[in-house]
Amino acid sequence: MSQLSRIGVAIDAKLLDQFDHLIAKRGYTNRSQAFRDLIRDELVEETWSSPDSLVVGTVTLVYDHHVRLLNEKLTDLQHEFHRSILSTLHVHLDHDNCLEVLVVRGKASAVQHIADSLISTRGVKHGRLTITTSGAELR
Ligand code: NI
Repeated sequence: MSQLSRIGVAIDAKLLDQFDHLIAKRGYTNRSQAFRDLIRDELVEETWSSPDSLVVGTVTLVYDHHVRLLNEKLTDLQHEFHRSILSTLHVHLDHDNCLEVLVVRGKASAVQHIADSLISTRGVKHGRLTITTSGAELR
């Protein structure tokens, strides 16, 4: 287990008050946990800024499966990148709309490229890459 360090932080009273309201709304019961999560979030973001670092992410897509050839295009892309796509979840949202969530792992630049390729495919109504980490580097 890593050693716990205590730090003192000088912060404007009003800013701290706003922070406390925010974290309470998000369900935190203490500041330390909220601070740690914010720091981890920044560290994960930083990892993604170097193209060669190994990362994990999810790509969420919403599309109308009636759009001509869209299913085929998305499937072709996923086969093209099969080494990086670990899993895919498909949900038929209603008569027309499909939701897909892909778990992607690889170099940051490759994962970004896969997400961009899928999200920019004509007919995709909404898409988003969520970046996370394998967790190996984080405490
Ligand atoms: Ni569907």
